[in-house]
Amino acid sequence: MLTGLLIKNIKCLVQTEDLPRLKICGSEMSELPFINDAYLYMKNGLISEFGKMKDLQKSKILFQNPEIETIDATGKSVFPSFCDSHTHLVYSGSREMEYIDKIRGLSYEEIAKRGGGILNSAKKLHETSEDELFIQSFNRINEIISLGTGAVEIKSGYGLNLADELKMLRVIRRIKNNSPVEVKATFLGAHAIPEEYKNSRQKYVDLIINEMIPVVASYELADFIDVFCDKGFFTVEDTERILMAGIKYGLTAKIHANELDYSGGIQTGVKYNALSVDHLEFTNDEEISTLIGSETMPTILPASAFFLGMADPPVRKMINAGLPIALASDYNPGSSPTGNMKFIMSLGCIRLRMLPEEVINAVTINTAYAMGISETHGSIAVGKVANVFITKEIPSYEFMPYAFGSNLIDTVILRGKIIN
Ligand code: NIG
Ligand code: FE
Repeated sequence: MLTGLLIKNIKCLVQTEDLPRLKICGSEMSELPFINDAYLYMKNGLISEFGKMKDLQKSKILFQNPEIETIDATGKSVFPSFCDSHTHLVYSGSREMEYIDKIRGLSYEEIAKRGGGILNSAKKLHETSEDELFIQSFNRINEIISLGTGAVEIKSGYGLNLADELKMLRVIRRIKNNSPVEVKATFLGAHAIPEEYKNSRQKYVDLIINEMIPVVASYELADFIDVFCDKGFFTVEDTERILMAGIKYGLTAKIHANELDYSGGIQTGVKYNALSVDHLEFTNDEEISTLIGSETMPTILPASAFFLGMADPPVRKMINAGLPIALASDYNPGSSPTGNMKFIMSLGCIRLRMLPEEVINAVTINTAYAMGISETHGSIAVGKVANVFITKEIPSYEFMPYAFGSNLIDTVILRGKIIN
């Protein structure tokens, strides 16, 4: 039997739950449960026990295993690993030349219209072998693990034809089979309209529905289906058709909505019971009232609004209306070339005026919900997967989003094992 791993003398054990919740909404987002001067015991890859140091003396752990592997975390805090519920981290190369175009004043849409943007990444991906794509993507995975991420959703969508979409999805599966990080895969064939379908968008939508979805589903390569429902990309009608086809094959909806306009994407997502609607820069009262009472997690991607210099969504208004909020990285080469979830928390505080407690809830339990895994991930609760990180010595949990440029992660533990 594995002896497990004990962390003792934890300055602050953050996001502890006796009765785990699936998501955190509205005013409850500003509450963060924690235990000062704590211990955490992990066994067989799961969280087995936690509590106050003074109670460790009474715990059966020490009696059963006097020589248990122990980390002394004096001065350090422990968080549940970040869950990053929206990424496009399987891609080839990078697009820093478009970054310069942006600095010079071109908009995201203008760059896309000139054959840059998603189509540029699709071309690069087409020219890259599957092995090479895996190596590049796996390096990104290892980078985000070292930055504290323990669960990640990854989308296809730089293939835009059946063969290349399958190539991406197989790379995602290979990551899942070779990394301790929890991975969910999303089929995003409807990410952009390929050049050859520029004047016949319907034909591309038909291809997604009639050819891509059935094959993707037959190989069980995806958990979710996503559509970029926005101005210049896919319409509400296209989105509905694609979602219905995906749902028929057992895929749950997630939508890119309202990044560029009031696209109707939020309403469509709620109508099809999407697990999440993501971006939401263009959100007003109508969208907010549609989301209230739904099962759909509003997910904000503050790094892409920051990177593209766009207006931020009205997050305070959304929380005041009682909505939950999730914050994800959108790690991708065009609008967010980072998967650093600690920086995402800082952007939540600085740009969206969220409190430290709110951003911590938004990158743990609420993103776990947006990946359909909040029963097993996203908090420190007995029986959940032992994905946690130990910080460097920090004065408080508020220090994490505050010190936005410092790497404060000391030790990463996934499935109860020390990773780095
Ligand atoms: O989430 N909005 C669409 N997709 C990505 C951008 C992808 C890209 O530019 O390569 C996003 O921002
Ligand atoms: Fe995205």
